[in-house]
Amino acid sequence: MDGRTEVGGLVTANPVWVGSSELTMTREGLIACVDAGAGAVVAKSVNESAAARRQLDIADYAFVSGDGRVRPAGSARPGDGLLNRSGLAQVDLDDWLDILAAGAGHGAARGCPVIGSITLADAGAAARIGRAMAEVVPAVELNIGAPHGREASAVRQLTEVDAVHDAVRTVRAAVDVPLFVKLPGQASDVVALARAARSAGADAVGLVGRYPGFLPDLEGGAALGSWGAWSSPGCLPMSLYWVGKTYAALDVPLIGTNGARTVTDVLRFLAAGARAVEVVTALWIGGPAVLTGLVAGVRAYLGGGAEEFVGSALARTRSYADVPPVRPPAWLPYTARWSGR
Ligand SMILES: Cc1cc2nc3c(=O)[nH]c(=O)nc-3n(C[C@H](O)[C@H](O)[C@H](O)COP(=O)(O)O)c2cc1C
Repeated sequence: MDGRTEVGGLVTANPVWVGSSELTMTREGLIACVDAGAGAVVAKSVNESAAARRQLDIADYAFVSGDGRVRPAGSARPGDGLLNRSGLAQVDLDDWLDILAAGAGHGAARGCPVIGSITLADAGAAARIGRAMAEVVPAVELNIGAPHGREASAVRQLTEVDAVHDAVRTVRAAVDVPLFVKLPGQASDVVALARAARSAGADAVGLVGRYPGFLPDLEGGAALGSWGAWSSPGCLPMSLYWVGKTYAALDVPLIGTNGARTVTDVLRFLAAGARAVEVVTALWIGGPAVLTGLVAGVRAYLGGGAEEFVGSALARTRSYADVPPVRPPAWLPYTARWSGR
C-alpha cells in the first residue's frame, strides 16, 4: 500500500501532491513533478480572463527569513516564507488542454494523476473550461480561495456560503470527473464554506488557500511594493485548525494545503483529517529532491495506507469545555515568580 490514499474518487499512490503554481505551468514542469514521485500533480490554474493572464506579467516573489529579512534573489532557504504576486497561465485554452493532456498521459503511465485547475472568475466560464478539462484529466480542482482576488477582479475569492454554493453547483453540473474545491482560510466560518461546497456537489474540499500578506520595509515602502499572498511554516497551525474543524464536523474528503514543508508537517495534515496534502513553497525553495524526500518520509512513517492515520489527532482533541483544570506553569506572569511573591 505504501501511503496509498483515495480522495473523492481519485486514488493516488501517496498523499504528497504538488499544488497548483508556476511550477506546474508547463508540460516540462508537470512531467518533472510526476517524475519526482508526487502522488498527484495539480496543474497551474487557468480561467477565461485575459486580465488574469496579464497579471502574470507583474508576478514577483520575495522569500523572507524566519526573522523577517527579505532574501537576495536566488538565496531562499528551507523554512522561509514567500510573499508574492501571481497571475494565471498565459496560454489559450486549446493549447493548455494539449499541455494538460500530455502531462496527464505521462502521469497516467506512472500512476500519478495530473489534475486540471481553474481559479474562479465567472462561474459559467469556469463550468465551460471544467467540461473541456474533464475530457483530458481525471479530476478538476476549482480554486475559489485565491488571496489575489482581494487585489484584482481577474480572479475571485469567495468567502460567503451562498456564493460558494452557487459557484460550485454551476461548475459541478458541467464536470463529470471528481471535482475538488479549494477554499480560502480567510473567512469567518470555513467549515460552513466547506459544507456549502459539499452540498453543491464537491467530491473533496481543499483547505486552505494562502493568506493575504503585507511586509513594510521600514524605508517608506514594502516588500514587492504591493500587497501580496503569503505562505510560511507559521501558516501551518492555522491551516490545520480548519482541516481539523472540518474533519470533525463534516463527512467530506479533505485535501490539506498551506504550510507543509517537512515530512512531519505532511503527517500533521493527515492526522488533522486531510487525505492528501498539496505542497508548493517547499518545492520552489528546494526543487524536486524535496518532493522525493517528502514522499519517502511519509511512506516510511505510514508503512501501509494513509487511511487509518487520517484524522487520528481528533480522537483525543477536546473542546475547551471538556478540558480538566491544569496547574499553571511557574513561568506564567500571574504565578509567584512574576508577581514578586
Ligand atoms: C507562486 C505561487 C503560485 C500559485 N498559483 C496558484 C494557482 O494558480 N492556483 C491555485 O489554486 N493555487 C495556487 N497557489 C497556491 C498553492 O497551490 C498552495 O495551495 C499554497 O502555496 C500553499 O501551499 P504551500 O504552503 O506548500 O506553498 C500558488 C502558490 C504560489 C506560491
